[in-house]
Amino acid sequence: MISLLVVCLGNICRSPLAHGILQHQLPEDKFYVDSAGTAAYHIGNTPDPRSIKVAKAHNIDISSQSARQFKVSDFDNFDYIYAMDKSNYNNIISLARTNEDHHKVKLFLDENETATNKNVPDPYYGNIDDFLDVFNLLQETSNVITKKLTVTHI
Ligand code: 4NP
Repeated sequence: MISLLVVCLGNICRSPLAHGILQHQLPEDKFYVDSAGTAAYHIGNTPDPRSIKVAKAHNIDISSQSARQFKVSDFDNFDYIYAMDKSNYNNIISLARTNEDHHKVKLFLDENETATNKNVPDPYYGNIDDFLDVFNLLQETSNVITKKLTVTHI
């Protein structure tokens, strides 16, 4: 099993969407997908209702996800760790114990050559259109990641 972890700050807006999209795209017998937040604010919460709504409009159900905080043992349990923005990236890297841990961490948008801003914008204080923009960006990037990982691992 190849395992992927997507990480944002709260694990209620951006990473639950990327989690749902990648889970939807990748064959479940070969890939395990999870998400986490660097902060502890929303542990145990379901995703933001706006993320649930935008995902549902694309036939992806993320309503049963539960927020959790990134932990050091995630470096042992995941092959790929994707950070939603540079702040999340730096927070994860600060917990890396080895070069191997360090090398597992990537910026999600580094996989998307057309994205000039490498930070997925945080839609938490925005409106539903901001969530839709984030969904589209995450889906476009997930398409690239899915193609790349299926070529590498299948
Ligand atoms: P996320 O968005 O990192 O995409 O889940 C946020 C959710 C909550 C907060 C910040 C960002 N917050 O400050 O509570």
